[in-house]
Amino acid sequence: MPAAPDPKLLARLRAPLDERAALSLERTLVPRAPEAPWVCLADNDYMGLAHDPQVVAAGKAALDRWGASSSASPLITGYTAEHAALERELGDWCGFGHALVWNTGFAANAAVLGTLPKPGDLVLADRLIHASMISGLLASGARLQRYPHLDLAKLEELLKKHSGHEGVVWVVTESVFSMDGDYPDLKKLAALKAEHGFTLVVDEAHATGWHGPTGAGLLEREGVAAYADIVVGTLGKGLGAFGAYTLFHDEIFRRHLLNFAPEFVYSTYLPPACAASARAAVRCVKALHAAGLDTGALSRRWRDAIRTVVPGTPEGDSPIVPIPLGDAARTLRAAQRLQESGWKVGAVRPPTVPEGGARLRVSLRLGLDENAPAEFAEALRSALAE
Ligand SMILES: Cc1ncc(COP(=O)(O)O)c(C=O)c1O
Repeated sequence: MPAAPDPKLLARLRAPLDERAALSLERTLVPRAPEAPWVCLADNDYMGLAHDPQVVAAGKAALDRWGASSSASPLITGYTAEHAALERELGDWCGFGHALVWNTGFAANAAVLGTLPKPGDLVLADRLIHASMISGLLASGARLQRYPHLDLAKLEELLKKHSGHEGVVWVVTESVFSMDGDYPDLKKLAALKAEHGFTLVVDEAHATGWHGPTGAGLLEREGVAAYADIVVGTLGKGLGAFGAYTLFHDEIFRRHLLNFAPEFVYSTYLPPACAASARAAVRCVKALHAAGLDTGALSRRWRDAIRTVVPGTPEGDSPIVPIPLGDAARTLRAAQRLQESGWKVGAVRPPTVPEGGARLRVSLRLGLDENAPAEFAEALRSALAE
């Protein structure tokens, strides 16, 4: 007989699940096949690179050369020439002197914000920053104060209020926000940094590949990469590979993290094949932009089509288009109906987004048919019909 869980534990585990299920909020896993029967607008492969022949070939060649695993944590033997080459490529591309590759963006954020801020520091963060950043910040012991989403006037007020703060003052934001696809005025943020001298951490997870004249991100597009002390980016979204990276102008951050961040020190490192695929993806992204890619126009075309059905869909130029529906059950139903008609979108519900903020999340990707926005809008209209 397999061991049965303690009944007290069982009850404790069951209660929140029952609560979620009753509210249409329980999550389940559904394995997908490699050839999915839908157009995928749910993942984060914005540049359509996960199946790009060059990205795949680079990974295969590295698998042949290095094997399937890095086989150790980076400080033992896990850090390879592939990782080092990727760091150089990323640093040169984004305009930073130093880079460090991570297993995941979650680990990178948790490490940066769990290891560098200390008790006595003050962290001012956008209210909607990703769970990985919150996770790090809560572990750090620093004081966390959140400002309203994108509200840099409020941030400025807080900076003035805390101008005599003894500890280090940090400002933490995403560039493109993962559930809303919007972003702060990074030029204004840079001006605030010049005036107030805080330490700035920017998560570019959803901007890499899409934004900027070479696809290096929103900091590149706004010309303010020099102002960010630490950038976090991912390899598994716009770059179509897997893993993450951090970028620094000052080497001290890299040295400190690789010595003291447990997520880095005590974990088997990213397989070299992922680093090789990511490096190939950087080159693909640069080539796409050099050839005149206009991602903003693509985003606007989709939004215009979707707004004919849900007028509250926000304007913008990022790859993430939230379609606000509010009600969780309605959102789930609409996503199911869309899937039945051949379109896979995310159904995002609390607690991932605030109460009442349930939405369909459409992730755009390059390479879809020109008629796709209009066809999707029609499918959405049917999916929302009562
Ligand atoms: C803004 C943001 N940062 C970090 C992450 C984590 O990245 P990864 O998926 O590589 O762990 C995510 C992923 O969902 C994200 O949306």
